Amino acid sequence: MSGSSSKAMPCAWLAQASQMVDAALDALMPGGGAAPQALHAAMRYSVFPGGKRLRPALAVAAWEAVCRLGMVSGVSPDGPHALAIRVGAAVELVHCYSLIHDDLPCMDDDDFRRGRPSCHRAYGEAVALLAGDALLTLAFESLARPEFVEAVGARQACLLVGELAGAAGSLGMAGGQALELAISEQSWPGRLGEAAEAVQAMESMKTGCLFEAAARMGGIVGGASQPEMDELSRFARQFGLAFQIRDDMEDAESQDVESGRITAVSVWGLEGARDRFDTSIVAAKRHADHFGEAGSKLRDLLDLISFA
Ligand code: IPE
Ligand code: MG
Repeated sequence: MSGSSSKAMPCAWLAQASQMVDAALDALMPGGGAAPQALHAAMRYSVFPGGKRLRPALAVAAWEAVCRLGMVSGVSPDGPHALAIRVGAAVELVHCYSLIHDDLPCMDDDDFRRGRPSCHRAYGEAVALLAGDALLTLAFESLARPEFVEAVGARQACLLVGELAGAAGSLGMAGGQALELAISEQSWPGRLGEAAEAVQAMESMKTGCLFEAAARMGGIVGGASQPEMDELSRFARQFGLAFQIRDDMEDAESQDVESGRITAVSVWGLEGARDRFDTSIVAAKRHADHFGEAGSKLRDLLDLISFA
């Protein structure tokens, strides 16, 4: 989960959503001076300035794809998509936690993140570990705050917590990270088919699940029907797959990949990975098109990760 640094925002709505997410995150988090000071400073260091804020943008895009404005306008004084921003902020907190832990010496051992020292390089391993724990916990607390539960309804709030917990847990992101460790320890020569299958499962768990949760959570606060939720899931799975393949391709091109690490590029080669990327983008576009004009933000996100 290395990830590229911030990119220029091609659409006004992405820049605006990113600003709104930052404001929501700022309001959710204790101040950097609150005791224990080092912990709160490390949490803020890992959240601000952010990266692309892609997962919250996906929540907003999914919300818009399904939105029945009448359903949400009465409960959200800060604008109709404030609830999508709030669920996007919760997903972003989980994402930021995962980056801190992923960079630790026992995981990828990365010294840099978003163009500056990774959290443990800036604050030490123990504080970084705790900052990750606290961001993960804050994500769930944010979905249980009374004013939020009042706005979305208790049942919806439980569904949101369930989506996020499932995506972050042992059958989602944490499981994907564990799978990555396990498959990197094996030797794969002569078993390319098996390796490819393992990589696909690992990448969809470690990256795809959180994208899927972002889309589904946007769908939940937008009042999506069951068929719409299914379509959002399909879109997000293909989007997540394409996103991770592109990340692997960028790592391979910059040779920023530890020896022995198995990625989409190591099993399919650069060209094969590019083919799979293209296939996923085409499939995702088909799912976005299902929403007609309302799916335009979903299509913008595909453009954002596509090659020029
Ligand atoms: C990086 O994700 C980790 C991966 C899953 C590849 P991003 O590229 O979305 O990271 P930021 O938030 O923009 O820095
Ligand atoms: Mg990793």
